[in-house]
Amino acid sequence: MNSMVEFYQPQADFGTPSSKSTELVTLSIDGRDVSVPAGTSVMRAAFEAGIKVPKLCATDTLESFGSCRVCLVEIEGRRGYPSSCTTPVEAGMTVTTQSDQLAKIRRGVMELYISDHPLDCLTCPTNGDCELQSTAGEVGLRDVRYGFAGENHTQLEKDESSPYFTFDSSKCIVCSRCVRACEETQGTFALTISGRGFDSRVSVGPETNFLESDCVSCGACVAACPTATLTENSIIESGIPEHSVTTTCAYCGVGCGFKAEMRGQEVIRMTPWKDGKANEGHACVKGRFAFGYATHKDRMTEPMIRDSIDDPWQRVSWDEALTFAANRLRSIQEKYGTKSIGAISSSRCTNEEVWLVQKMVRTGFGNNNVDTCARVCHSPTGYGLKQTLGESAGTQDFASVADADVIVVMGANPTEAHPVFGSRLKKRLREGAHLIVIDPRRIEIVGAPHVRSDLHLPVRPGANVALLNAVAHTIVDEGLTDQRFVDSRCDKVAFSNWLTFIQQPENSPEAMEAHTGVHADDVRVAARLYATGGNAAIYYGLGVTEHSQGSTTVMAIANLAMLTGNIGRRGVGVNPLRGQNNVQGSCDMGSFPHELPGYRPVSDDAVRGSFEAAWGVTLDPEPGHRIPNMFEEALSGAFKGLYCQGEDIAQSDPNTQHVEAALESMECLIVQDIFLNETAKFAHVFLPGSSFLEKDGTFTNAERRISRVRKAMEPLAGKADWQSTLGLAQALGCDWDYESPEEIMREISALTPTFAGVTYEKIERLGSIQWPCWDEASEGTPTMHEESFTRGLGQFIVTEYVPTDERCSRRFPLIMTTGRILSQYNVGAQTRRTENSAWHEEDVLEIHPEDAQERGISEGDWVGISSRMGDTVLHARLSQRVRPGVVYTTFHHPVSGANVITTDSSDWATNCPEYKVTAVQVTRVTQPSDWQERQKSFDVKQQRLAKDSVVG
Ligand code: SF4
Ligand code: SF4
Ligand code: SF4
Ligand code: FES
Repeated sequence: MNSMVEFYQPQADFGTPSSKSTELVTLSIDGRDVSVPAGTSVMRAAFEAGIKVPKLCATDTLESFGSCRVCLVEIEGRRGYPSSCTTPVEAGMTVTTQSDQLAKIRRGVMELYISDHPLDCLTCPTNGDCELQSTAGEVGLRDVRYGFAGENHTQLEKDESSPYFTFDSSKCIVCSRCVRACEETQGTFALTISGRGFDSRVSVGPETNFLESDCVSCGACVAACPTATLTENSIIESGIPEHSVTTTCAYCGVGCGFKAEMRGQEVIRMTPWKDGKANEGHACVKGRFAFGYATHKDRMTEPMIRDSIDDPWQRVSWDEALTFAANRLRSIQEKYGTKSIGAISSSRCTNEEVWLVQKMVRTGFGNNNVDTCARVCHSPTGYGLKQTLGESAGTQDFASVADADVIVVMGANPTEAHPVFGSRLKKRLREGAHLIVIDPRRIEIVGAPHVRSDLHLPVRPGANVALLNAVAHTIVDEGLTDQRFVDSRCDKVAFSNWLTFIQQPENSPEAMEAHTGVHADDVRVAARLYATGGNAAIYYGLGVTEHSQGSTTVMAIANLAMLTGNIGRRGVGVNPLRGQNNVQGSCDMGSFPHELPGYRPVSDDAVRGSFEAAWGVTLDPEPGHRIPNMFEEALSGAFKGLYCQGEDIAQSDPNTQHVEAALESMECLIVQDIFLNETAKFAHVFLPGSSFLEKDGTFTNAERRISRVRKAMEPLAGKADWQSTLGLAQALGCDWDYESPEEIMREISALTPTFAGVTYEKIERLGSIQWPCWDEASEGTPTMHEESFTRGLGQFIVTEYVPTDERCSRRFPLIMTTGRILSQYNVGAQTRRTENSAWHEEDVLEIHPEDAQERGISEGDWVGISSRMGDTVLHARLSQRVRPGVVYTTFHHPVSGANVITTDSSDWATNCPEYKVTAVQVTRVTQPSDWQERQKSFDVKQQRLAKDSVVG
């Protein structure tokens, strides 16, 4: 076992949170001198010295509460028996944790708890992993003098409504840990203690249950509960785990650390890792509970080949599949030329796997035709931040938000799409930070429990640049510029050009109001708050990037941060919230047709030379095709072979019918995935993929944090993804031989300056590392651009507002925008195969009641949505979250066809599709669209061809 695979035991609990103070206080506990930071509780000081104090209501993820009274201690010079969890240390304090009197009191308290508790330890799901049980043992409770016959709660009914956990109120000791976890950690406030005295019970509200309540199933309460009252169903069904493997979530760009708790090869529970720096012990419904897809019956475990997409599949050996694929690719190149094939790497795969894909394209295919899904999400971030700040990445770590005074959330919905960061954000807002939300929709944090935005600017989809220019204009106009920062850190000529531009009257909030739909006064208030409210941080998402001016918007954000000096320290910065777990990493690893790893141009002779020397081949100096160019070239007959790893382009890319036609025109489509996804239905070679639980490697999250992915179970198909790519490269004649992902990381470090100091040994020691990690910062860089920008001087860039071509017309009078929801993840391939569907069985169209009424549409009606590209049909949901004129949907189900509607329009700099703006008409209909009918029958046919597969 390596050091992060260990026999199962609950994670260490020090009783109360650590103190951030730098001042040390020394006290004596049971005769031992102990030094801890000021503000530490006596309980924690004792735990840190290896002295265990019994406890029930305290846990180190929550502020102390002081209700159970089992943690009492004696303190010299103090009367009575203070609770150690609520008493802060003082210099010179003398504490005694064990005495006859303390033992007697503790036993008395435990006796009361146990007298109202079912005595069924032997058959209880958490037997052996229960704090009530262990505390009873610790205090030496042997007898309950009051008997068990009196009035008690042992017959209360269970709430089994949640698909993931059970609430057995009969076992509750009313310690409030669950209620506090829901408030402090998650920020949802779904739980309360109802009733008084003997009738006090934990409740999700009157006459409701967990599934129907406000609960978002994050599981924080389950983790906090010291008894079997809140218990994961998997533990009830399978018992407590036997060993654990520390790894990283494979869903969103937060990149939460987890302990995969196992019984043999079976995952019993995913428990957020307390030492994981991205999540600090918290998680969301996807990472914590939605892991069942990994062993779902739909998993594909055998390689398959076929000549045409109308043929049944033949199940073949790995060698046969890889040889077939390599031969086909080579014969395509012989017939159509070197540039007729390419690859798409996966932002769900590890850095090491992505590295091999781009290396195979460059050395095996002999071109630069490699791209990644960042093309359709955050490529404008890469471009925009590189131009302005000099590095294609966010500037902060997540923890930095705790120091922000003003937080701008733009085109992102953190509580749904980046939930663990969303909880951090809400915590800071409850502490008093100001919030500005820029979003066409009224997203949850605009008005969540105990959180209220100071301003919600419901910008019209497509007018982001207009709005940000108006904000910048106001800051300059009202003399709020941080001139000292600009003079010392930014390029003077560029600033002066930009200043001339931004001061133009057409950029004023008053002039821009016609474009943005946002009242000029609100823009001015927001600008003043951002510029003068203290530390101001901007967090943004795909609502910024997926526009025809996505890159311009990112540059406008960077301009604002430089203009106000909000960059280069904690609590500020420019922070893209990345969608997929490893989208930062797949970009870092050189998955772009114009850039080698580390964002260095393929056209740069010196850069190319360093790779040529290491790899022993000559590299193509010409940039290759981006994904949209691959489709165009395919339709023109020049691009015929594609290796697509872990990416469902048929569902996720815009203008589905165009993508389908391009895929149909290929002579060799190789799909590597864990499921027969929509793209695989057009494939000639299917290589079964491995889930994150089946392999070793690293992911890099949105804060540039490189974390280990560790194998918890053997790959179901016999190979981890890096091994499949290695096999394909070898079949193509590449002279490669890697023994492990660690060996690949050594090559990454040697050839990528920002990764120069990254080693598995160091990640093991530090838990994770934020790049750049090199000589100047050998343990990583939480905050970037502290002294100077990566590019030297910050570059202000003129951001002229150019309205999108995708305009409303009489035929298409509404704007459709898209997003995602908490329980589902992107194309839904994983989450649709879990119980998460209990919350979201289908994609619906949110439409404002006024627009619905005008069209005779009622809640739940079938509505046809048509754009210039195509039509689809969804159920309608009447919602005031969208403003009149805007409709909204998600794209988690293939049959929804959200991307049948979206257009080919894209960001001018990076080709990132303009998913967020599609002019549509919505009408009441009674049947699915033609595309949906076709999709259904194609799906049935392809499922049959897979089912009828023969041994080849
Ligand atoms: S699962 Fe999360 S949201 Fe639901 S009650 Fe528990 S802590 Fe609150
Ligand atoms: S459900 Fe658990 S955490 Fe909540 S009050 Fe009861 S025993 Fe405590
Ligand atoms: S999906 Fe994101 S927030 Fe949820 S557990 Fe995974 S990494 Fe964390
Ligand atoms: S643990 Fe201190 S009062 Fe409960």
